[in-house]
This record gives sequence, structure tokens and C-alpha cells, in this order.
Amino acid sequence: MPDSTMFDSAFQARLRDLLVWRRDVRRFRPDSLPEGALERLIELACLAPSVGLSQPWRFVEVAGPARRKAVRENFEACNAAALSAQSGERAQLYARLKLAGLDEAPLHLAVFADRGTRQGHGLGRRTMPEMAEYSTVTAIHTLWLAARAEGIGLGWVSILEPARITAILDIPTEWRFIGYLCLGYPQAEDDTPALERADWERRRAASDFLLRR
Ligand SMILES: Cc1cc2nc3c(=O)[nH]c(=O)nc-3n(C[C@H](O)[C@H](O)[C@H](O)COP(=O)(O)O)c2cc1C
Repeated sequence: MPDSTMFDSAFQARLRDLLVWRRDVRRFRPDSLPEGALERLIELACLAPSVGLSQPWRFVEVAGPARRKAVRENFEACNAAALSAQSGERAQLYARLKLAGLDEAPLHLAVFADRGTRQGHGLGRRTMPEMAEYSTVTAIHTLWLAARAEGIGLGWVSILEPARITAILDIPTEWRFIGYLCLGYPQAEDDTPALERADWERRRAASDFLLRR
């Protein structure tokens, strides 16, 4: 790969390592994150691209035990419903999956997209209003990589009811719930997704996803 003016081939190789070893983490060590880590990660996440420079992402740190418990209960209910929707071997496989690290993760972030934001003056959202949500996802992914670069793991929890999470956290209803993130130091490092290791799904070759017209 040719060197760019700012990023040489050694950096490119390390970036590849970061992407290969990122992982969705569900098994955390209990150690808390260092002072300032949250603010640093949010600052980096806010460098993400956004439609019209609207920066519609809103990160809500969930620290209160009562709110954490309510989120946990909602996850349990949604996960039980998801399990009962599976049958046969899939149900057995599903039951063995660990799909959140809500109990162990020292830091919880609920992420919302503020669809009503005036920042960006609506640019790019007239025909595709969902761009606020897409922009928020870019910030989550940026945070994911920034965290991993510091050895901090992130697990994205989506087995939740958006309306319930919005109510538990007392969030304006025009903010759309995007995801619930658990952050902390991972128990182990891996270059293979947990779902692949658990025989749930396999990654396909990148060539399967490139179409030409
Ligand atoms: C939008 C989104 C939602 C996800 N929701 C969950 C979830 O609810 N529970 C879970 O265990 N993993 C969740 N994941 C993680 C995926 O299972 C994981 O990214 C995928 O299996 C690939 O593994 P990797 O991230 O380690 O490469 C989610 C990931 C994304 C991008």
C-alpha cells in the first residue's frame, strides 16, 4: 500500500490490526476506566462524519443503579422473548450466547440521535431524514475504534425496547434510541467475532459484498 503524506505503511498496518482485533465485547473485567477516558472517547467520537455537520449524536452516561437495573430488566425480558422465538437447535445455540455485559461493564452509554436538531440546517436530510440516525452510528463506530485503541472494549446492546429505554432515562421523545453501549476492559482479546466462535454465524469473504454495475 502506498504511503500517504500523513500515514505511512506502518500506521496502515496497525490500523488494519485495530480493525481486525476490534470485537464486540460481552465479557468485561470489573476494573473501572481511568479518569478522563469517557471524555476523551466522546471527543474522538465527535470527530465522526455527520450529515450537514449536524452532529446529532447524544451520549447519555447511565450510572444510577435504579436506571441500570431497569435497563437490565428490559434486556432480560427482550432476550427471553427472542429466545422463545427461536426453535430447535437454534434455540439451544441462542440460549448459550452471552449477548450483553450489562452486569460487569463499568461504563454504560445510551446513544440517541436528536432528529430535531437544527444544527446542519437540514442539509442532506430532506429526502433522507434517517441520515441523523446514520450519522449517529458513525460516531458509535468511531468511539468503538478509539476505545479499542486504548485497550477498552465496547459491546453494543440492541436487545432492548427503544420506548422503554427512552422512558427509563427520561429522554426527549424526539431523540431516537440508537444503541446501548457497555464499555470496560475485555477479559480476553480475539480476532474472531464471538458469534463465529459460538457457531451462530460466519463472516463471509469481502468479495461477496462488492457488486459492480
Ligand atoms: C447495530 C449493532 C447492534 C448490535 N447488537 C448486539 C446485541 O444486542 N447483542 C450483542 O451481543 N451484540 C450485538 N452487536 C454485536 C454484533 O453481534 C457483532 O458486531 C458481530 O457479531 C460481529 O462481531 P465483532 O463486532 O466482534 O466483529 C451489535 C452490533 C451492531 C453493529
